[in-house]
Amino acid sequence: MITTAKTHEGKVALVTGAAQGIGQAIAIALAERGAIVIATDIITPGETLGKIGPAGSAYQLDVTNEQDWKTLALKSETLGGVDIVVNNAGYFPNRPIDQLDLETWRKTISTNLDSHFLSVKTFLPGMRKKKWGRFVGISSNMVGLTIPGMSHYIASKMGIIGFMRGLANDVAGDGITANAVLPGIINTKAIADIPDEMQRATWEQQAIKRLGEPQDVTGAVLFLTSNDASFMTGQALVVDGGQYRIG
Ligand SMILES: NC(=O)c1ccc[n+]([C@@H]2O[C@H](COP(=O)([O-])OP(=O)(O)OC[C@H]3O[C@@H](n4cnc5c(N)ncnc54)[C@H](O)[C@@H]3O)[C@@H](O)[C@H]2O)c1
Repeated sequence: MITTAKTHEGKVALVTGAAQGIGQAIAIALAERGAIVIATDIITPGETLGKIGPAGSAYQLDVTNEQDWKTLALKSETLGGVDIVVNNAGYFPNRPIDQLDLETWRKTISTNLDSHFLSVKTFLPGMRKKKWGRFVGISSNMVGLTIPGMSHYIASKMGIIGFMRGLANDVAGDGITANAVLPGIINTKAIADIPDEMQRATWEQQAIKRLGEPQDVTGAVLFLTSNDASFMTGQALVVDGGQYRIG
């Protein structure tokens, strides 16, 4: 049974890349648990706001743009600041190394990794004052797979794990945790161009033999952002139906 307990009541949660896919599912799940959700995306995610309802808000936020983070911080002050940040926005073009140019490399690192740094610089001071905070970075189980053409993406997603691990050490004294979630292949627009047989070949490697849905990722995020996970930090939680093998 999926709990309907209001585990996140009184918390303000910011989700990036929340217009669709995994980010939208996370925003809705946090709202269902009682959080006041700020849904953001490169274009204001109106559809997500419609699904969250009146307790939420939606704003434009390009996660690579420092000024956008500052502007959003000002807007969030009316809600009493931000307690939970879920960095979910991602950029994932397939480029074998011979075709990978510096522009694509930089956009990947900027979208998938700089964003985490900027969110921390923006919202950490407020969390420190409250002696409570949660950072969750959406990484990928691809860091442990043998998929060609994704060196830039894997570098950025490994970077998230490293940043959360290091950040955890710097913020633990103030009741703040930082963790990464590593989804497997999930049924969103991001994988729409991958032929069905290729998708199947991936999910057949899982213990649970079906394609993951965005809602399959939300449980890990809800746990890590709750009080239940107050002694869990610097970790990388794999949510992939049992594809990734330890060791
Ligand atoms: N779908 C999968 O199979 C899968 C697997 C593992 C990890 N992930 C990760 O999950 C996250 C969400 O992926 P998804 O499948 O829902 O993708 P998606 O393409 O459906 O959604 C990504 C969202 O990020 C937004 N975005 C991109 N660049 C942005 C920017 N600069 N500023 C703000 N928003 C921006 C997009 O507008 C989009 O709404 C990504 O970080 C992705 O790497 C996805």
